[in-house]
Amino acid sequence: MDSNFKNLLSQYDQSQVLNFWEQLSADQQRGLESQIQSIDYEELKGLINQAFHKSESSINPDSISPLQNSICLPENEKDREKWAHARERGHKILDAGKVAAVLVAGGQGSRLGFDHPKGMFPIGPVTDRTLFQIFFEQLLALSNRHGVRIPYFIMTSDATHEETESFLQEHSWFGYPQEDVFLFKQGTMPAVDDKTGKILLKDPSTIAMSPDGHGGMLKAMQRANLFEEMQKRGIDYLFYHQVDNPCVSMCDPAMFGFHEEQGAEISTKVVAKREPGEKVGVLAEFDGKQSIIEYSDLLEEMAQDYDETGRLKYWAGNIAIHIMNRSLLEQLATGDSRLPVHVAHKKVPFVDDAGQQHSPDEPNAYKFERFIFDAIPRAKNPLVIETSREEEFNPVKNAEGNDSPASSQAALLARAHRWMRIARYNCDENAKIEISPLIALEPHDLENQFTDSELAGAKIVLSPNSGDDEK
Ligand code: UTP
Repeated sequence: MDSNFKNLLSQYDQSQVLNFWEQLSADQQRGLESQIQSIDYEELKGLINQAFHKSESSINPDSISPLQNSICLPENEKDREKWAHARERGHKILDAGKVAAVLVAGGQGSRLGFDHPKGMFPIGPVTDRTLFQIFFEQLLALSNRHGVRIPYFIMTSDATHEETESFLQEHSWFGYPQEDVFLFKQGTMPAVDDKTGKILLKDPSTIAMSPDGHGGMLKAMQRANLFEEMQKRGIDYLFYHQVDNPCVSMCDPAMFGFHEEQGAEISTKVVAKREPGEKVGVLAEFDGKQSIIEYSDLLEEMAQDYDETGRLKYWAGNIAIHIMNRSLLEQLATGDSRLPVHVAHKKVPFVDDAGQQHSPDEPNAYKFERFIFDAIPRAKNPLVIETSREEEFNPVKNAEGNDSPASSQAALLARAHRWMRIARYNCDENAKIEISPLIALEPHDLENQFTDSELAGAKIVLSPNSGDDEK
């Protein structure tokens, strides 16, 4: 062990990570050493301090007020014209090749309990199309339609990188040009004991590290030179989405149109909350700046409050779909303007000083994460755009119940039927229909494409050249 690092560990009172050093193989020592070197001890010291002094409710309710401005779903002809105009403008932005997309797929997906990266989850109601395939097909359809290249940045973590890469390679990137796909790994942060502030070891040769949250994306993009890649390609805007929502409308032109028209540095899609108590972060104002207020920070009486039109005052549920300007991201990736770190109290398996392994039943450690939505209050003219939950937000989060594979797949199926009805087809209402994004990104794309006989059957797959419509 490099004596500088030994001294550093002792200076920060973290020498316990070397407890088993003498018993490790040369390979294990190298692995542990590189983990030790990856930690910013001064930053960690501050975070431990923050964790130990965090009060139960750190947010003053008087600082929270309802959202001032938002673009809501169209209700009348004038609104529809406004949306059509934004869509037109968005098409031009896409035509000009100013857009890249980023997928954050580094999470551990512990609630779902799926043994692979979540993007590999089969969600198609008929074909078991995976989440990854749905995203790649959307981008392929868009880039063909607009005659441009749309780089796709995919953030992985130690937990998901290798499997994600080999899965995508095995499937030839679902036909997407490989030179436009960039996998990059997010950083990690050590977990510390909640009583002593000491870094925990997962086993004698490994520090208990976990991904540094979706907000780790900024630093990780910078490390991978992706801002330079964007700049080189003349790209100003980044479309951001998460891995668990198969209904996301990637690079939605209307969203881009509104974003540019309003001179926003960041835009966020929201859906109306299902009920006052829904456990979702809401877009509101905090200290006069647009921010996301986590559901646990919203007092019950505020969550239940309605305005004079009968709408919840805190109605705008965050669905984690954003557009962000490259210039804002670059600025937030560095120095003093970096996103804040949040502390989470979690169960973390560890090995104690005597070498005994523990799998705690209660939270025993603090973990540290950055959240991408903390970029919102830092942005100029942040914009909120409403979308329909049925159409665009049906995530796979939990193993069962709400936001589960069953509810998400049912929503995809219902959406396929709805699109077919809008495009004036009569399908058997019990038919299982799956629409590849390569065939349609919106209902209008389906019009006049199929004959009645192609649509007769219990299972219908609408894919280009598939020839595999199951009857
Ligand atoms: P979630 O908050 O749902 O976390 O992530 P998770 O780790 O995937 O799932 P649970 O909570 O353990 O069940 C929302 C999105 O942010 C990504 C996830 O991959 C998902 O797309 N994410 C989360 C990261 O990329 N990195 C992280 O460190 C955390």
